[in-house]
Amino acid sequence: MTSAKRHAANAALELIGDGMKLGLGTGSTAALFLDALAEKVRGGLDIEGVPTSQRTEERARELGIPLFQPDETTRLDLVIDGADEIDAQGRMIKGGGGAMLGEKIVASAAAKFVLVADVSKRVGTLGRFPLPVEVVPFAYATTIRAIRETLTALGYEGAKVELRGAEGGGFAETDSGNLIADLHLGRIMEPEELDAALTLIPGVVTTGLFIGFDVHPLIADENGIT
Ligand code: 5RP
Repeated sequence: MTSAKRHAANAALELIGDGMKLGLGTGSTAALFLDALAEKVRGGLDIEGVPTSQRTEERARELGIPLFQPDETTRLDLVIDGADEIDAQGRMIKGGGGAMLGEKIVASAAAKFVLVADVSKRVGTLGRFPLPVEVVPFAYATTIRAIRETLTALGYEGAKVELRGAEGGGFAETDSGNLIADLHLGRIMEPEELDAALTLIPGVVTTGLFIGFDVHPLIADENGIT
């Protein structure tokens, strides 16, 4: 799948021009884009970027990509990022890498979301990939119970909720010091309804559902963009 991801990353590069302000995504496909972007920057391309995670920030610095801190007036031209699933309406699940909070904040400042992904990410119905939900550590068990109750109320019988890292004896931590609950749902029939209900729970910071973004999908297989 690396060659498919590289095709998608290279196609995104064609959308970039001098003077652009970019959101820089997280994950293996976004990392391939960073590599390709850095080469263009070394060749004189004049852009600056806002990273969506500490990982991306470190990598961008290593590669010499100019970064900046957004202020209240910042509008990004594009964010270039991967996803774990995308449906035909451009709704996505993100956060497999645990960076969905930074990714969502940066995406919300961007005019367009350029999705770089291999074809395995295209789905008919969201939900086979466990939905990540970022949860504050304070009284997290109370929040997990509220998540379970919300899922039951919405008809997700048999859904499993797992705190990421628990099986290894220590919870995974996000860049903001929060925890991640992975929701094993199978099929998400009403992503908007689920997102709204989960986001209302005190203790939930955000979900990995990305809905309502102006998505420009660049989805590739090993032969190129499909
Ligand atoms: C990280 C993400 C990634 O974009 C998503 O997991 C896809 O990653 P990859 O390009 O490695 O398949 O949301 O939080």
